[in-house]
Formats: sequence, C-alpha cells, structure tokens
Amino acid sequence: MNSTKRNILITGGAGFIGSHVVRRIVAKYPHYNVVNLDKLTYAGNLANLTAIENASNYTFVKGDITEATFINELFEQYQFDGVIHLAAESHVDRSISNPLEFVITNVIGTVNLLNAAKKLWNANIDNAVTDKKFYHISTDEVYGSLGAEGLFTEKTAYDPHSPYSASKASSDHFVRAYFDTYKLPAVISNCSNNYGSFHFPEKLIPLAINNIKQMKPVPVYGKGENVRDWLFVEDHAAAIDLIFHEGKIGETYNIGGNNEWKNIDLIHLLCKIMDKKLNRAEGTSASLITFVKDRAGHDLRYAIDSSKLQKELGWKPSLQFEEGLEKTVEWYLTNEEWLNNVTSGNYKEYYTAQYSKR
Ligand code: NAD
Ligand code: TYD
Repeated sequence: MNSTKRNILITGGAGFIGSHVVRRIVAKYPHYNVVNLDKLTYAGNLANLTAIENASNYTFVKGDITEATFINELFEQYQFDGVIHLAAESHVDRSISNPLEFVITNVIGTVNLLNAAKKLWNANIDNAVTDKKFYHISTDEVYGSLGAEGLFTEKTAYDPHSPYSASKASSDHFVRAYFDTYKLPAVISNCSNNYGSFHFPEKLIPLAINNIKQMKPVPVYGKGENVRDWLFVEDHAAAIDLIFHEGKIGETYNIGGNNEWKNIDLIHLLCKIMDKKLNRAEGTSASLITFVKDRAGHDLRYAIDSSKLQKELGWKPSLQFEEGLEKTVEWYLTNEEWLNNVTSGNYKEYYTAQYSKR
C-alpha cells in the first residue's frame, strides 16, 4: 500500500486491539478515509474511540461481517483500497461454551470479506492486483501448544486445540486459499497475547486487575503453569501499521514480545504492582489468588519467533514487560468509569458461572 489517498476498512475497530489500530491509523494518516465496521458485540465499545470519533477522516459503521449482502454493498459504496480485518470472537473460554458462534463470525465473516474484496478488486488468477491489500489479523494460537522448548515460526504446522484457535486457523487457511486461487492480494500476521489499555476484563490481565482492585478472588486456572508470550498492545498496533504498508503480499509475519511468563509468576508480579499503586501492605493482593478448575484443553505454552518481522521490516517491541504492566495498571486505576461500564450487567453473571472453585 502506498501512502496516497485511500479508503481503508478496519473491521472490529471498537474492540481491544482494533481500537488501538483505528486511533493510530486515523491520527497518523489524515489523507486516508478510515471506515471502522463493528457489530458492537459485548466486546465492542465506542468509548474506546472518543479520541478520534470526530476526526474528518473517520467513519463508524455498525454492522455484521456475517451478512454477505450488506458487506458487498459496503465495499461497493466505499470502494475500499485496503482492509485490516480484526473483527472476531476472541475469547477461548467463550469458544468452549459456544463454538458455533466462533465458526459463524470468524470463518464465515472472514470469507464474506474475502469475497467482497475479490469482487471489488476483480481478483482472479489472470489479474495481478498490486495496489490493494487485504490484511488478516490472526493469533499464535493456531500453531497449537509448545512443550518446554522451541518457538513458533511462520513455518510451524497449524495444530489448533480450542474452538477459538480452530476457527482462526480456518480463517487463515481461507485467506491463503484466496491468495493461491484468485491472487487476492492478502497478507496475514499471527500475534501472541496482547495486554494494555481498553482490554476487556474477561481476559487474564484486566480481569486480575479489576478483581484485585475490588479485593475479589483472582482465578488462576489449574496450577498456573501455562506460559504465554505477552506483547504490549501498542507494539502490536505498530506492527500492524508496518505490515499493512510494507508487508509482502502472500506472506505471513509472526509478532511476539519475546516475553514469556508462567501465569502464576505474572499474577504475582501484578499483585506486587497493585499493592504498591493502591498503598496496600505487601502480600494483600497475592492473598486473593485462587486456584480454580483448569480450562478444558488448556494449551501449555505459546512462544513466538518474530525474527522475520524484525529482520525484514525492522519492527521491534518498544517496552519492557514490567514497564508495560505498570502503565496498564495505571490506566485501569485512572479509567474507573470505563471499567465500571464494561463490568456491569450480563458480563458479571456470565463470569460468576465460570468460577468453579477446585
Ligand atoms: P475483541 O474481542 O476485543 O474485539 C473484537 C471486535 O470485533 C469487537 O469490537 C466486536 O464488536 C467485533 N465483532 C465481533 N463480531 C463481529 C461481527 N460479526 N461483525 C463485526 N464486528 C464484530 O478482540 P481483540 O482482542 O481486540 O482481537 C482482535 C483480533 O486480533 C482478533 O481477530 C483476534 O483473533 C486477534 N488477536 C488477538 C490477540 C489478543 O491477545 N487479544 C492476540 C492475537 C490476535
Ligand atoms: P486469556 O487472557 O484468556 O488468553 P488466552 O487464553 O487467549 O491465552 O488467558 C491467558 C492465560 O491465563 C491462559 O493460560 C488462561 C489463563 N487464565 C487464568 O488462569 N485465569 C483466568 O481467569 C483467565 C481469564 C485466564
């Protein structure tokens, strides 16, 4: 994608990562017309976007990627030059309760977008489309689970275990199939666990911050030995910006923080930071740690080799984890109203049902 006037579609821009991407692209590229398409599910929140909601190069469209006719009309109306596709059902625990919703949104929704782009750009095997890009945002979870050693590279075979990762793997396969079959100008990235501001408090870090703040139990699945590779969300947004503009069509890029933490060690670090920020006696927050029944099919370890992205496009993570975690805690403590809004109502009922003590 070159940097001249462009109509860009960002899907899922009211969610956690999407809102960071929308804010960044709208502010950095005033000559783009950015359309944010989001269904506003429980995870979508327009309060994440107040910083840019009145920008002249920004339009919000409430809509569903699973509705093919609507999607085709939207592509026709806005004549998109580029797509950054983040809309998805994203929480593993929800995928275990309701796998079909993940198939419908993550697989069918993605194929609807691919079809609309293929049609608008007249992508077919005899027509090399060079000035458009369809960028699909995916996860390291498609690669499955690692033992104590090794890293996921772009060549690691897919081996998803949860309904969430199976749906994301399937959508990745469709994106590659459209590149191979129709020469749709597509690129994919697979990123590790993100953390930072605007993260919905059903995921480990914001959930733990919220519970510690309220002196509620902090649920740790199993023995807390599972390992995740954590990346500050703004570093992911920077990588997405870079790959959208410089990434090679047909390629996959892994994105990761080179920052592995066992869940229980991460929670202890978070407890320390929270005690300090809330002026509590050391050990107060850690006393809330509660080991609960393990997640079914819980992947042991994720770890990403992002050397391709670092070498080829010059990306690197900007923050040390401790610094990023402190910033994140500060954000949640400062933005109480945001937190209270998203934790009210149905959300609470859903999570009460999930906490079965061992
Ligand atoms: P999120 O759940 O916070 O946000 C998803 C957004 O998609 C929400 O705004 C929601 O309203 C919207 N959406 C859901 N279904 C929709 C539909 N049918 N039509 C239109 N919009 C719909 O998710 P996130 O954590 O920001 O993740 C964004 C993307 O990044 C996802 O594709 C996810 O798989 C991927 N990813 C996430 C992580 C992570 O750590 N969170 C890591 C790697 C990759
Ligand atoms: P999560 O934030 O749901 O991300 P993902 O499952 O996509 O990695 O979970 C991160 C890790 O924390 C994962 O190993 C599951 C674990 N976990 C808990 O121990 N307790 C919790 O309450 C949650 C939500 C997750």
